[in-house]
Amino acid sequence: KNLWLVVPAAGRGRRMGSDVPKQYLPLRERPVLAHTLARLHRAFPAARLCLCLDVDDDHFDPAWVPFSHWRRTPGGSERVDSVRYALAAMADSAADSDLVMVHDVARPCVTQTDLERLYIALCEDEVGGLLAAPVADTMKRDDSHGRVARTESRCGLWQAQTPQGFRYGLLRRALDEAAVNGLVVTDEASAVEALGLAPRLVPGRRDNIKITHPEDLALAEHILAAQQG
Ligand code: C5P
Repeated sequence: KNLWLVVPAAGRGRRMGSDVPKQYLPLRERPVLAHTLARLHRAFPAARLCLCLDVDDDHFDPAWVPFSHWRRTPGGSERVDSVRYALAAMADSAADSDLVMVHDVARPCVTQTDLERLYIALCEDEVGGLLAAPVADTMKRDDSHGRVARTESRCGLWQAQTPQGFRYGLLRRALDEAAVNGLVVTDEASAVEALGLAPRLVPGRRDNIKITHPEDLALAEHILAAQQG
């Protein structure tokens, strides 16, 4: 069976407040995107990669892609649209039973151990699943006027990370149905959940952060330095 990696990297990263999209900001002297692809490649050197890039992207350099089987697919208006374009582009060569792992380009700190543990869990699972970490903070729901409406129980709450992995056929069906039903999906798992299935939660390290805000870049620098000893 083939393993496919889909890396949505077509975001503009507006919350970053930078002219350069966040996947191209430097992290230990290399762009975020190069780190993320290098980590995926170390864990899965034989995988095939679909890299979702904005059609107007003029920062990308193919020298950052370590995979021998890879292709570039266009970005959509939302993350889920970018992923759907990638899945459509794979239709000629992917089998329904092939495993597809979707990983945000903005998560360069994912470790080889977590990637391998997730892969093993997914190979044994009919539904599929995702890396996730139990919520540590107390969660407040706002009243939309800047005050606390209530405190949500954090018991049993998890933060969804990526990669998220599912069989090609199931993932395509889930994302197509979500689109038809106008469901807002910010990750693959939620589309699969909408089919009535229960993706597996695979406990991941808390430092698999998603670079979103400017301060996250400095945090990622520290995480990478600490991981590499
Ligand atoms: O903006 P956010 O951090 O939620 O984006 C998550 C991931 O989805 C990033 O890797 C980003 O590049 C990607 N993305 C995309 N196409 C979009 C929006 C986001 O590939 N239209």
